[in-house]
Amino acid sequence: MRALSGLADAAVARGVEVIKLNIGQPDFATPKAFWQRIDHDRPDVVSYESSAGMPQLREAVAADYSNYGGQDLSSADVLITVGASEAVSIALQIALDQGDELLVPEPFYANYKTIAQMFNINVKGIARDFASGFALPFAEVFAGHITSKTKAIMISNPDNPTGKVYSEEELFMLANLAEKHNLWLIVDEVYKDFVFNGTKFLSLLNLDKFAQFQSRVIVLDSISKKFSACGARIGAIITRNKEAIAAGNKYCQARLSAGVIDQLGALSLYEAGLNDFLKTTVNNMYLQRKRTLETGLRTIPGVEVPEVSGAFYLFVKLPVTDSWKFATWLLESFSFEGATVMLAPGSGFYENPSDGAQFVRLAYVIEEGKLEKAAKVLKAALSQYRES
Ligand SMILES: Cc1ncc(COP(=O)(O)O)c(C=O)c1O
Repeated sequence: MRALSGLADAAVARGVEVIKLNIGQPDFATPKAFWQRIDHDRPDVVSYESSAGMPQLREAVAADYSNYGGQDLSSADVLITVGASEAVSIALQIALDQGDELLVPEPFYANYKTIAQMFNINVKGIARDFASGFALPFAEVFAGHITSKTKAIMISNPDNPTGKVYSEEELFMLANLAEKHNLWLIVDEVYKDFVFNGTKFLSLLNLDKFAQFQSRVIVLDSISKKFSACGARIGAIITRNKEAIAAGNKYCQARLSAGVIDQLGALSLYEAGLNDFLKTTVNNMYLQRKRTLETGLRTIPGVEVPEVSGAFYLFVKLPVTDSWKFATWLLESFSFEGATVMLAPGSGFYENPSDGAQFVRLAYVIEEGKLEKAAKVLKAALSQYRES
């Protein structure tokens, strides 16, 4: 994406409006509650916090999961991390050693591979079917990829980059598979608050549904998307496995402490009782934007839009053979009514980049008028684009 960012800057310098559909950062204002404790509990000394995280914040994250079937959870089941990014890194180190294999349905959030590579963990992508809205393949397909080196399965639910929300059956299939093959199940739930059209989100921490699997489940969360607070860098690991908490805490101790000011802000956000606001105002806004983008995209010949209902992404198929080249051309050589669009090429979301060559991820975290315009620009671009 770095190369494309440079091209986007150059396009802006030429006076072209670049509509950014590539970014996964929410645009609604971070609730003002964020500042409450920072203002009122202003510490005399900005000292280290407990490595595992501020006890009240750990408790607040646990309490948040009581909305998702985790009524029994307490601060002891939670580690506060530097964003979900650090939670990914710690969870992988808890579950896997160098040379081990991690199964991830693909397309997947690109940083899973980047972080796994830092620890010499091999990511094995398991193909999902575009036509079925990125449903998981049958258990036998997964089982066919399991070797003596396989130690964990990882998913994001709701999913980045596809927007897919996994069904109860799919989650059971994965949990049973993990049990049968003695694997960890790492579930990244940072988009759990963004689910539309009456679709039901089920957390792997839901005790009623998944009690028997809890010793192998590690869930990751974050305030980045939930509260539109990406820059505050607060995430969490939540697991009922005490050994995993103890192992994870060693990594937390090695980096001493997550930011104490950020933790105060995060605590204020959890304390502000924002869940209704997220469920109504924010979800309605995203749903409306999703519909606007989908409506625009569906007028474009050859563009295929899957049926999905979560997060704030669409992973669409374009009538091109190399979406990276197309995204480059859009920024370097094209504009329509003074504007172009910046896309996230699908190649970054696959174990084998070429498998994503026909796809792009579009994020609908910009206002509706821009989304409408983006679809028009894309339509004009695709009618003009000639592959070299
Ligand atoms: C699926 C997923 N997990 C983790 C992260 C990282 O989140 P954080 O900002 O909490 O580090 C992202 C960010 O886009 C994401 O999409």
